Amino acid sequence: MNRILVKETVNNVDKKVRLNGWVRVTRRMGKMVFIDLWDVSGIVQVVFSSDNQELLGKAKSLRPEFVVEIIGTVSKRPAKQVKKDLATGTVEIEAQELKVLAEAKTPPFEIVETDKEEVGEEVRYKYRYLDLRRDKNQQRIIIRSKAVKFIRDYLHKEGFIEIDTPILAKSTPEGARDYLVPSRQYPGKFYALPQSPQQYKQMLMVAGFDKYFQIAPCFRDEDSRGDRAPDQFFQLDLEMSFVTQDDILDLTENLFTAMVKEIFPAKHMTFDKWPRISHTEAMKKYGSDKPDMRKDKNDPNELAFCFVIDWPLFESKKEDGNYAPAHHIFTAPRTEDVPLLDKDPLKARSWQHDLALNGYEVGGGSIRITDPKVQAKVLELVGLSKEEAKEQFGHMLEAFTYGVPPHGGIAPGLDRMLMVLLNAPNVREVMAFPKTGDNREPMTGSPSEVSNDQLKQLHIKIDKN
Ligand code: AMO
Repeated sequence: MNRILVKETVNNVDKKVRLNGWVRVTRRMGKMVFIDLWDVSGIVQVVFSSDNQELLGKAKSLRPEFVVEIIGTVSKRPAKQVKKDLATGTVEIEAQELKVLAEAKTPPFEIVETDKEEVGEEVRYKYRYLDLRRDKNQQRIIIRSKAVKFIRDYLHKEGFIEIDTPILAKSTPEGARDYLVPSRQYPGKFYALPQSPQQYKQMLMVAGFDKYFQIAPCFRDEDSRGDRAPDQFFQLDLEMSFVTQDDILDLTENLFTAMVKEIFPAKHMTFDKWPRISHTEAMKKYGSDKPDMRKDKNDPNELAFCFVIDWPLFESKKEDGNYAPAHHIFTAPRTEDVPLLDKDPLKARSWQHDLALNGYEVGGGSIRITDPKVQAKVLELVGLSKEEAKEQFGHMLEAFTYGVPPHGGIAPGLDRMLMVLLNAPNVREVMAFPKTGDNREPMTGSPSEVSNDQLKQLHIKIDKN
C-alpha cells in the first residue's frame, strides 16, 4: 500500500491508508488510545480502540516523537467532534496496524509549543533538528522554499539566466571582513569566500549574458545583529545590461509585488506603486536612509516597500584622507558629476539605489562604472595606489577595455526580507541551520579545531595569543 500524507487523509474517507510520521501527542481516554500523528503536511488524530487488544497494548507503549507506520481506515468524525482549527479536523484514522520504525528519547524541550517560557537559542540550535519539527519553524522553512521557487520561476520567465559563481574566490570589498580559506597548493596564499558575487556578475555582463541572477550565498565576517547574520546569508543577486535605474527598480518592484501576492496573501502593501525617494529627502523627512513608511506600525501585515535613490557617491572622507563609498567602488557617479571626482568628491551623486522595507535595508544595488578611467579614479579616491588597483582590480579594468555593455543590478537580501515577511524575531530564525548570536553552531560544534596534520598541509601554525 502506498503511503499518503496526513493532509491527504481528508480526500480518502472510508479508505484504508498507510501513514508514516511522528507521534506528537498521546492521550488515553477510557479504554482507548489517541495519538496526534504528525508529518511534514500536518497532524491527524489516530484512534486505537479496545476491539483489538494486541494493537491497543502496542499503542500504549508509544511515546512522543516515536516514528511510526500506521495502517488504518479514514473515518468521518461526527459533526460535534469536528476540530475546526485542524486541516484534517473532519476525519480521524481508525488504526488497524502499527509498526514502530524508531523510538525516541524525551526531547530536551517541548515540540508542541506551549506558553511556558521558551528555551534559549543555545539549546534550540544544538537540537535544531528538533526545533525545526515545531510548526512555526517548519512553516518558515517551507515558505522560504516556496518564495525562492517563485523568484526563480519569475526571473526565468523574464529571460534571466541563472549562473553559479565561485565560492572559493578573491576578496570583493563590500565593507565587511573576509572569510579566508588557505590554499594547500600555494603556501601563504588564500581564497576568500565571496561577500557577494559583485565582480563575477559584472564579468557576466561583459561576457554578454544580458540578464543574470543567482540565489547567491554571501559570506561576511561581521558582528551579529537582529537583521544581520555573522557568517553567511543569501542574496537574490541580479544584473542586467542596457538598462536604466528605473528598469532595475521596476523589475524588483514587479517581482516582489507578485511574490507577496502569491506566497504571502495575508500581507498588504502600503503603496501600490513603491515610492522612490531621494537620499536627502529620506534623511530630512524620516531621519533614516532606510525609512519606515508604514501607516500603522502595529499592523503585522503591513509592508511599506520604498526605494531610496540619489545617494552621494561617497559617504565620508576618512582621517587618512581616503573616501569611503556609500555603496561600493563599482557604483557609477552621475555622468554630470564625474568632473567633481577631481574637485569635490563628496559632492558627487551616484546611481545607487537601496530597497527599504518597514525600516530595514532589504536590498542594494546600482548602475555600474564601465569607463576604465572613472573606475581607476574611484579606486584612487578610496586609497588604492596604481599598483594596488592593478593587483586587486586589474581584471575588471582590463575587461572594460574589451567591449563592456552599460549595466547595473541589485541584490535583495533574501534572509532579511524573509525575516520581515515572516515576522520572525531575527534573521537567524528564517535559516535552517543558523549560527548563534556569537557565531557558533552548537549542533555540529563549528568552528572547531582541526588536526595538526591538516594544519601542516595548509602551511599554518596557530598562535593562540
Ligand atoms: P549590499 O552589501 O548592500 O550589496 O548587500 C545587499 C543586501 O544583502 C543583505 N545583507 C545581509 N543580510 C543578512 N546578513 C548580513 N550580514 C547581510 N549583509 C548584507 C541586505 C543588503 O541590503 N554586491 C552588492 C549588491 C549590488 O550592488 O548589486 C551588495 O552586496 O539585505
